[in-house]
Amino acid sequence: NRIVLAFSGGLDTSVILKWLQQTYGCEVVTFTADLGQGEELEPARAKARLMGVKEEHIFIDDLREEFVKDYVFPMMRANALYEGLYLLGTSIARPLIAKRQIEIAKMVGADAVSHGATGKGNDQVRFELGYYALSPDVKVIAPWREWDLTSRTRLIEFAEKHQIPIPRDKRGESPFSTDANMLHTSSEGKVLEDPWEETPDFVYSRTVNPEDAPDAPEYITIDFEQGDGVAINGVGMSPATLLETLNDYGRKHGIGRLDLVENRFVGMKSRGMYETPGGAIYHLAHRGIEQITLDRGAAHLKDELAPKYAELIYNGFWFSPEREMLQAAVDYSQQKVTGTVRLKLYKGGVYVVGRKSPYSLYSEKVVTFEDDAGAYDQRDAAGFIKLNALRLRLLGRRDR
Ligand code: ARG
Ligand code: SIN
Repeated sequence: NRIVLAFSGGLDTSVILKWLQQTYGCEVVTFTADLGQGEELEPARAKARLMGVKEEHIFIDDLREEFVKDYVFPMMRANALYEGLYLLGTSIARPLIAKRQIEIAKMVGADAVSHGATGKGNDQVRFELGYYALSPDVKVIAPWREWDLTSRTRLIEFAEKHQIPIPRDKRGESPFSTDANMLHTSSEGKVLEDPWEETPDFVYSRTVNPEDAPDAPEYITIDFEQGDGVAINGVGMSPATLLETLNDYGRKHGIGRLDLVENRFVGMKSRGMYETPGGAIYHLAHRGIEQITLDRGAAHLKDELAPKYAELIYNGFWFSPEREMLQAAVDYSQQKVTGTVRLKLYKGGVYVVGRKSPYSLYSEKVVTFEDDAGAYDQRDAAGFIKLNALRLRLLGRRDR
C-alpha cells in the first residue's frame, strides 16, 4: 500500500520515486535525512511535491546531533578504521537512516521500504540489515536490483521522459557516486575507476589541497570526557557542533583526504576517495587521550577488537548482538578517558603534541632518565628478563 523511500532529492532517488509510483502503483512516502551533508534540503521537498507526494508524506528530519552522539562518537571510542585507513563515514550513517525510515514506516502505516543503493555495493546490505533487524517482516524494494534502467544513459532517458530535472555537471567527468554527511564525503566511479590514476583536484569538495594550506601551523585543544569530545579550545559544545568545528579546521589545513582501494562486503574491490576532515582530527585526538588514560592491557585489547568492530560497521551489522557486545566493552574502557589533547594542524597533517588528564597513568617520576628517588628498582628488571628468556634459552641450547 505505501512505500517509504530514503530520498536524497538527487537524480537517482528522484527516478526511483517516479519508478516506484509507476511500477507499484502505490503511495510513496519520502524521507530525507539531514546528516549535515551541507546541502539545501528544501529542494528535496519541492521535488517530492512535484512528483505528487502528499505534504504529510514528505519527511525531512534533522538527525545531526543523534548521528554524531549515538553513532559517530561510539564508533570513535572504538578507534574503528576499516582496513586500517577508512573512517567509515558512509557506513556509520546507514543504520541511522534505516532506523528512522522504519520509524516513519510504522507511523504512516507503510509495509515497504526502498533505497537507492545499487546491487553491487555495501550500502544495500547496510540499509537492509538495518530494516530487517528493526522490522523483521518489512518488504524491501531495491530498484537498482529490479529495474531495466541498467545504464546511466537509460536512467537519464527515463528522467527526461518524466520531466525529472537532471543536474548538469559542468565538469562532465565528475564521480559517478558520492555520499556526504557531517563525517565525510565519499566519491566513487567514473574518473576514479582506474586505481592507477591520481584523483583529480575537482573531486575534492571539503578540504583545501594540503599544498595550498596555510604555511603556519595552528594549535587547538580538544577536551574529552569518558571517551567523548566535549570542548574545543576550552569552549564546550554539542557533539554535532564539535564535529562541525573540527571540520572547519580540517578543511582549512587540508586534513583527512584518503585515496583507498577497499574490499566491499559483496566481494569486489572498489576504489574510493574520502574526505573526513574533522573525523581525522578527532580520531587521532582520541588516541592521544587514550595514550595516558588507558592501561596497556585494556588498550591493547581494544586495538585487537577495533578491526573486528570496524568490519561489523562496514558490513552493516550495527544492529547485531556482536556489535553491541563490543560496544559494551569499548564503553566500559572509556570511564577515565577524560582530559585534554593538544594538536598541531599543518598542511594536511594532524599531530598530537600534548596530552593531560586528571586520570593520567603516566608517571614522570617512574619513567625519568634522571634520579627517580627510589620510585623504580632497576634490579627488578633482571629477574623479569631472566624468566622471560628462559624458554628462549632452552630453545637456543637445543637449536643453535
Ligand atoms: N565505499 C564506501 C563504503 O562502503 C563509500 C560508499 C559510498 N556510497 C555511496 N552511495 N556513494 O562505506
Ligand atoms: C552503491 O552501490 O550504491 C554505492 C556503493 C556501495 O554501496 O558500496
